[in-house]
This record gives sequence, structure tokens and C-alpha cells, in this order.
Amino acid sequence: FIFLAFLLAKQALMGTPGCGCQPLTVAVRSISFSPRQVTSDASFHSVSFSETDHPKVLITGGLGQLGVGLAKLLRMRYGKNNVILSDIRKPPNSVFHSGPFIYSDILDYKNLREIVVNNRITWLVHYSALLSAVGEANVALARSVNITGLHNILDIAAEHGLRLFVPSTIGAFGPTSPRNPTPDLCVQRPRTIYGVSKVHAELMGEYYHHRYGLDFRCLRYPGIISADSTPGGGTTDYAVQIFHDAIKTGKFECNLKPDTRLPMMYIDDCLRATLEVMEAPADTLSMRTYNINAMSFTPEELTQELQKQMPELEVSYEIDPVRQGIADSWPMNFDDSNARKDWGWKHDYDLPELVQTMLNYFREETRMARVN
Ligand SMILES: NC(=O)c1ccc[n+]([C@@H]2O[C@H](COP(=O)([O-])OP(=O)(O)OC[C@H]3O[C@@H](n4cnc5c(N)ncnc54)[C@H](O)[C@@H]3O)[C@@H](O)[C@H]2O)c1
Repeated sequence: FIFLAFLLAKQALMGTPGCGCQPLTVAVRSISFSPRQVTSDASFHSVSFSETDHPKVLITGGLGQLGVGLAKLLRMRYGKNNVILSDIRKPPNSVFHSGPFIYSDILDYKNLREIVVNNRITWLVHYSALLSAVGEANVALARSVNITGLHNILDIAAEHGLRLFVPSTIGAFGPTSPRNPTPDLCVQRPRTIYGVSKVHAELMGEYYHHRYGLDFRCLRYPGIISADSTPGGGTTDYAVQIFHDAIKTGKFECNLKPDTRLPMMYIDDCLRATLEVMEAPADTLSMRTYNINAMSFTPEELTQELQKQMPELEVSYEIDPVRQGIADSWPMNFDDSNARKDWGWKHDYDLPELVQTMLNYFREETRMARVN
């Protein structure tokens, strides 16, 4: 069967000389390969994910704001040893002892491939990236990690028949996109290297899906707010920092204007959405890249909600022109009706629940610190 599939696939790629016919896309989808591996490794793809088994998951860039939380969620569901966190940084003790961790630089194709093969990986969650503000400060590195790194990931995933999740972002839209609300399909002309690289990821993932049958799944996350992990240099970071500073000093200096409206989401909703879209049966997905939404607020509105519980909180504004410029080109509200319709997406946290949950976390942390 594999040999027959290989012949069909090869024929599909090369076409039948002189007939001018379309490639056999159905045959191509029955096996997985990518342009790097068409001939030499086409018989290699014997490991495939069975819906009844637990997936074996690799998370790249797993030591950032989102990876550790995702690993925790997936480990509760699929078992501790079935979820491997990876990064180029040294993990803190708590992370190292909570489950498998492995060094992986996504720019090292051979290393990635070895990890996937040796651990019989079936799902790949690709979190490595340089975020918006950090990317603008180092365009060459952002281009390399976010674009060249993604090419490695796509090829590895296609060659080994992996289900691949790549997050996109509100930053994949730009000043010419409709901003309130922003639908799934519209003009995308972002003006940051981060945004450009994420549009590239969406398009390449969808291309590999149509061309090679790659099971690519992508969600455009809003700004993600979390208590127990620090953000990695995005434009929405203020909405996390305000909680830290409010609890610690009762004061916060915001780097965005008070009326800057951006879509936001509490981390638990974001991670659950990721799990749900990864588990969604393929035939429920009418698209491969979805907006997901929860709430949308301005620094002023977040401050007011916080002040309901901390009336003494003082917020001042010292605008960062780079971040403000980025925020002004991003969606104010996200239309996620397709995600809700296709695979039942539903958020749990609106602004009041978000603020309450964050404050509870930090108050408990402060109480514990005092006890210790
Ligand atoms: N956090 C958000 O608000 C948000 C919003 C939208 C989309 N996203 C996307 O979600 C993903 C995870 O975001 P995050 O906030 O955890 O990011 P983060 O910046 O906190 O973490 C990214 C991780 O990638 C790692 N990394 C950098 N270069 C690497 C390389 N060459 N090889 C392997 N790893 C490398 C870093 O060490 C870091 O731990 C990213 O793709 C991001 O674009 C995040």
C-alpha cells in the first residue's frame, strides 16, 4: 500500500507528461510528505495518529507565556509522558520536574526531526516565536525564527503525518483590515514583522494542507492574560503587567493610550480553545484558520474594573509610540462566529471574571509569601 501510495503521490507531484491533467490530490492526501522528502523518505511514514490512541505531543517554544500551561492541560488529558515541552532556554526546576522537557531549536531541522522520530510524536504545537514588540526590535531574528523556523516545522509535520497547531494573532491584521469587528476573511496587510510572519504561517499552513494533506490547524489568539506566567514582549502585555504592579505598588504606568481597544482573552480560555480545535473532527472544520474571541477592552475600562476592588489604584500614561502604532493598526473586536458555529467555541471569561480571577491569584500569592 505504501509503495502504491508513493507511486501515486510521485505521479501526482510530477503530473502525467503531456496530459495537462490536475495532480491526484486524493492520492497525495493518503500519505504525508513535504518537498524536502518526496523521494528518499516517502516510505518512511508508517506512524500515524489513531483517533482512539492518546496523541504524543511536542510543544516548541514551550517556556514562554503559554507553553507550560498548555502542557499542564494536555498532560491531564493524555498523560504526563505523552506531552513533551521543548525550548532553547533552561527550564526552571518546577517545569523540569513536572514532565518531559527536551532542548529543541526550531532552526535546527535535523534536531527537530530526531525528536519527532525518537519520541514517535503525532501532534506538534508550534509556540516558538518572537512577538510583536520584540520582533520590531530585532527584525532579522524575528524573520529567522518566525519564518525560517516555521518552514522547518511545516516540513517535519508533513513528512511525519503530524497534526500541526500554529497560533496566529490579532497582529496578522493591519490598518487596512476592518477593525470593528474583524472577520476571519478580509484584507491582511500587517505592518510588523510579527504580523507578516503570522500571515505567512497561515497561508503556508493552508497551502500545505491543500497541497500535501497536512492536518494544519490555526487559531488567531487575542492578547492573552495570565497570572502565573509572564508575557513575552507583545503589544497587549500591559493588561498583564497592570495586575502585577497594582498588587505590588498600587500604581501602574500604561504604555498605551487609555482608549486603545484590543481583543483579549484569559489564558484558560485560550488553552482550552487550543485543545478543542486540536480534538475537533476534521469534517467540522470548514476552515483551517479561525479567529477566537472572548472580550475587548481599553486600558481605561480595565482600570475601572480593577478600581472596583482596589479604589486606591493609580494609573498614569506614558505612551510608547512603537506599541501604540502597532495597537492602532490591530482589530478592536474579533468576529469569531465561524469558530462558534463549526466546532462549538465558547469563552468562559469576560472582563469581571478575568479581573476577579487575576486578583484572587495575586492576593493568594501575596498571602503565601507572607506566611512563608
Ligand atoms: N501571548 C499572547 O498574547 C499571544 C497572542 C497571540 C498569539 N500568540 C502566539 O502564541 C505562541 C506562544 O506565545 P507566548 O506568549 O508563549 O510567546 P513567548 O514569547 O512567551 O515564548 C516564545 C518562546 O519561544 C522560544 N524560542 C525563541 N526562539 C526559539 C528557537 N529558535 N527555537 C525554539 N524556541 C524558541 C523562546 O525561548 C520562548 O520561550 C507564539 O507563537 C505567539 O505568536 C501569543
